Amino acid sequence: MDYKKLVYKAFEGRKNAYAPYSNFKVGAAVLAEDDKIYTGCNIENASYGATNCAERTAIFKAVSEGNRTIKAIAIVGVENNYTFPCGICRQVIAEFALKDAEIIIGKGEDEYLIKTLEELLPGAFTKEDLDR
Ligand code: THU
Repeated sequence: MDYKKLVYKAFEGRKNAYAPYSNFKVGAAVLAEDDKIYTGCNIENASYGATNCAERTAIFKAVSEGNRTIKAIAIVGVENNYTFPCGICRQVIAEFALKDAEIIIGKGEDEYLIKTLEELLPGAFTKEDLDR
C-alpha cells in the first residue's frame, strides 16, 4: 500500500500545530474505514498536562464524526527524522484500529516506516480484556 497521500495529509495537519512551549510540531492523518481522512496536530497548553497529541486530535475528530474504525494512521514530526507515537497515543490507536491496521511513521512523503500495532504495543490492553 502506498501511503504517500496519507503522509502528505499528516504534514498538512502539522501546519496547524500549536506548540509554543516545546516548539515540537507534530501532524497526523487517520485513514478511516470508509477512506475518509482526518488530520490532526498537537495542541499544547500553558498547563502542560492538558496538551493533546496530534494522533489523538486526528482520532478524536474521526470518532466525533461517527468514524470509529481506523485502517491506518500517519504521524510526522520534525522533517528528516522519524517521530513515533507516544504511549498514550498507542493505547488510543489500539482502541479504534482494525486488527491489521498500519501505523505510518513519516519522515518525508516518500520516506516512511510501516508498523503494526502489535509491533508498537505488544499485548495491548483492550475492551476484550474487560469482557473476560
Ligand atoms: N507529541 C505528539 O503530538 N505526538 C506524539 O506521539 C509525541 C508527542 C507532541 C506533544 C507535545 O506537544 C510535543 O509533541 C512534545 O512532546
